[in-house]
Amino acid sequence: MNDRASSDPAATEGRKGQHIDTVLGRDVAAKGVTTGFERFFFEHRALPELSLDEVDIGIELFGRRLAAPLLISSMTGGTARARDINRRLAEAAQSLGIAMGLGSQRAAVENPDLADTYRVRDVAPDILLFANLGAVQLALGYGVDEAQRAVDMIEADALFLHLNPLQEAVQPEGDRDWRGLYDGIEALCRALPVPVAVKEVGNGIAAGIARRLADCGVAAIDVAGAGGTSWSEVEAHRESDPLLARVAHGFAGWGIPTALALAEAKRAVPELPVFASGGIRDGVDAAKAIRLGAALCGTAAPALGGANETAEAARDRMEQLARQLRIACFCTGSADLAALRRATLRRAGDWSVVEG
Ligand SMILES: Cc1cc2nc3c(=O)[nH]c(=O)nc-3n(C[C@H](O)[C@H](O)[C@H](O)COP(=O)(O)O)c2cc1C
Repeated sequence: MNDRASSDPAATEGRKGQHIDTVLGRDVAAKGVTTGFERFFFEHRALPELSLDEVDIGIELFGRRLAAPLLISSMTGGTARARDINRRLAEAAQSLGIAMGLGSQRAAVENPDLADTYRVRDVAPDILLFANLGAVQLALGYGVDEAQRAVDMIEADALFLHLNPLQEAVQPEGDRDWRGLYDGIEALCRALPVPVAVKEVGNGIAAGIARRLADCGVAAIDVAGAGGTSWSEVEAHRESDPLLARVAHGFAGWGIPTALALAEAKRAVPELPVFASGGIRDGVDAAKAIRLGAALCGTAAPALGGANETAEAARDRMEQLARQLRIACFCTGSADLAALRRATLRRAGDWSVVEG
């Protein structure tokens, strides 16, 4: 995300590599907070009256047909290693018919030599593809021109603007001035010819903010809630100053649980597609997210683990989610996602058997 030292390729390479190695090698999961999906269970349909093979989990979004409502969430770019990872993720997305986001493209907007590390259209001509920039850049001089360049660079269908105030606040070099961003987002939504979606990075977007963003003209909101990868934990592990590391660790439990953020945002902006991400680790969570109103379910760190090895391994991680989601549809008697949205979802622990 924070790719400030883009003018210094060695520093960028170092930080991007550190982010990947930290996510893969350290315990960067949120602590003391969970996604909340475990609070729900589907009522099992012992007699589904369906053929599993005919369950359709496809959707249409932003002019693309997806075979499953899954998104490989925005992660990386800007380095040779990131290029390999992006291409493996894109191959996986293409073969599964799912969506993908590239990591923050600020480095390549400022140094076009790096654009190639984000380009995946040649291996993924048909996927729904999201460009990515930090929203805070809009307060620091970025506007339509930079956003358009990010979109054109990768032939994206839409742009994600990410909100990561906690990560920026716990980074010594982070961006601290977040004023004026609603106006910047509104101006961008008006001028950019592709849909602008806004995402968090693992701390959630509250209902009131979702409403204000919708009023600014955003086309979708990815709540990216708490319970999965914690970016304050990632930064804590990268931090060499013990004081700053302790400050960052204090936020391991910070954020709105993904399931709660999703349900509340969907209620606040019923007219918009709301995406769920942040700690979605299997297709049962994805099914619950769809039931709670998600149009698309994203996952980041697990896909990275696969893509660090091979395209097949990346595909394997995402295919698992798609297969589980299909089975969850089958076992709730849902022939498609519209039916899954009506399936009976019950609260775990709510075992009252006598009404009134
Ligand atoms: C290695 C890595 C790099 C990331 N970089 C970005 C980024 O550049 N832009 C962005 O919007 N989100 C970024 N994210 C955040 C993810 O898109 C996602 O919101 C977050 O990791 C929560 O999902 P998870 O719990 O499935 O990992 C990154 C995540 C990972 C794991």
